[in-house]
Amino acid sequence: MGLLDGKTALITGAARGIGKAIALKLASEGANIAFTDLNIDENAQATESEILALGVKAKGYASNAANFDETHKVVEEIHKEFGSIDILVNNAGITKDGLMLRMTEQQWDAVLTVNLKSAFNFIHACAPIMMRQRGGSIINMSSVVGVSGNAGQCNYSASKAGMIGLAKSTAKEFGSRGIRANCIAPGFIITEMTAQLSEEVRNEWAKTIPLRRGGTPEDVANVALFLASDMSSYVSGQVIHCCGGMNM
Ligand code: NAI
Repeated sequence: MGLLDGKTALITGAARGIGKAIALKLASEGANIAFTDLNIDENAQATESEILALGVKAKGYASNAANFDETHKVVEEIHKEFGSIDILVNNAGITKDGLMLRMTEQQWDAVLTVNLKSAFNFIHACAPIMMRQRGGSIINMSSVVGVSGNAGQCNYSASKAGMIGLAKSTAKEFGSRGIRANCIAPGFIITEMTAQLSEEVRNEWAKTIPLRRGGTPEDVANVALFLASDMSSYVSGQVIHCCGGMNM
């Protein structure tokens, strides 16, 4: 018996990276998985096959999480296909780094829209379903820099701080309906997003981490499993850092 048998989890931006690791982890505990990404290409199809191999239902949907109408449409489709939405993981995210005075309006808008508005879109579409079910767990992917700030990432840090305010407000608005909302704040996790950094920068980061290593997507997925399951039944409105002690 798995911790999530019979539940449906919807994960955004899960064709690869942390989202994919979360999808596989929740599936390994019995959850059926609906995931979105910008395109359902070969990569996303391979993700879908890996999830299916765990013996649960799985389907990838092409959808731009930043688009309000597309989000409502895809959530309706997923609800029809899966019958419930019990867990929502707002994971889709991008970076477009630059120092404040060099940052363009486009860089700012793109990151805020994809990282933060997307989570509003999905909560707006899923909360009525969770209310009717009288329960649900919402997980927003924040970041340590949403708490501490980071030079060169004012747009990204603001979007990730926004994820915390959004989760806390959601926890307060929907708590009486049995819906919990929390954030994960990962530190330096080794994925394609961070692979763009040079070896030198990565080594510098590692020196600032008490556990002296970058995290893996599985490290983050383990926290997501805790927050998705009834193991965290009395945890809401919280930010769990998964960063090897980088932020305390
Ligand atoms: P990644 O770049 O490997 O994966 C992100 C996924 O989101 C990709 O599959 C991408 O196609 C998808 N995506 C991007 N824009 C989208 C949109 N508009 N609609 C739907 N899907 C979209 O990134 P990674 O590293 O797996 O990050 C996942 C989340 O974790 C992001 O929100 C990121 O900000 C956050 N995070 C990552 C950290 C890291 O060190 N890798 C640290 C802290 C937070």
